Amino acid sequence: MTHTATLVASEQEARALVDRIGEDAILYERSVDLSEIDPDHWQVLVYFEEAPGAAERKALATAAAGIIGTKAAFAIAALPDQNWVARSLEGLKPVRAGRFLVHGRHDRARVRENDIAIEVEAGEAFGTGHHGTTAACLIAIDRVLRSRPVRNALDLGTGTGVLAIAITRAAKAPVVASDIDAVATRIAEENARLNGVAGLVHAVTAPGLSKSVFADAGPFDLIVANILAGPLVMLAPAIRRHLAPGGTVILSGLLVSQRARIVAAYRAQGLRLAGGIEREGWLTLTFRRAS
Ligand SMILES: C[S@@+](CC[C@H](N)C(=O)[O-])C[C@H]1O[C@@H](n2cnc3c(N)ncnc32)[C@H](O)[C@@H]1O
Repeated sequence: MTHTATLVASEQEARALVDRIGEDAILYERSVDLSEIDPDHWQVLVYFEEAPGAAERKALATAAAGIIGTKAAFAIAALPDQNWVARSLEGLKPVRAGRFLVHGRHDRARVRENDIAIEVEAGEAFGTGHHGTTAACLIAIDRVLRSRPVRNALDLGTGTGVLAIAITRAAKAPVVASDIDAVATRIAEENARLNGVAGLVHAVTAPGLSKSVFADAGPFDLIVANILAGPLVMLAPAIRRHLAPGGTVILSGLLVSQRARIVAAYRAQGLRLAGGIEREGWLTLTFRRAS
């Protein structure tokens, strides 16, 4: 099973760490991702086909200590299904999640009368509904919208825009759909048009929540973020800042083993854990802010 080692640092440290890994006698063949969570936090992610052994763990620790200091440590986790984009691109059957039916163009005829249908062309972005995290977010969104009104929402890490479109279709409310990746925001815009909700989905390319557009459009009654645990811990204070009193946060992209870390980070922001869904080894958590 694929494993990842992740560490969040400043941009300068993260870039130096990637260079160091590329030069390391044990780690140099590993694939490494460097991504911006927000301008102050960058994530280094190293992939391993199997659980890293003692020599690899030691090499990671030495690299981190050499660049950042001995307190810096990579978090190592098993990835239930690492091939997200490839799975999104498969021509799969429609997916039912709560009241939503996510389908491709070829399955328009399968939409039933009471379905809230979302047609998605994935292209190079993540989010056709087939991944456990997307389906669980759709179920969690459905539950929230059945229990309380949502007047405006944020879909952080929108990918194809599937969650943003689901919210606009079900709540008839505007949604800011943001992604760090400009290709994803373009695809989200196209999908919003395809689903007749372009006027309600505002796609924004941005890492995290640092751009002023979030403060201008917020605070939000509902924030959905299907990213990964590391960035979601870093973004907890910003997410709380942009959440309206009484608002709900749905977090996904989490491993079951990361539950305690996420719950602690969001409780520290004064949010209450209101629910959880486990699907295909992934965890989706719902938090609520007091009114
Ligand atoms: C797992 S996909 C989720 C896509 C879709 N929301 C879904 O649920 O299917 C995560 C998306 O978050 C984006 N992303 C990752 N880190 C981000 C960050 N710090 N700020 C904004 N977007 C980010 C990625 O580019 C990717 O499109």
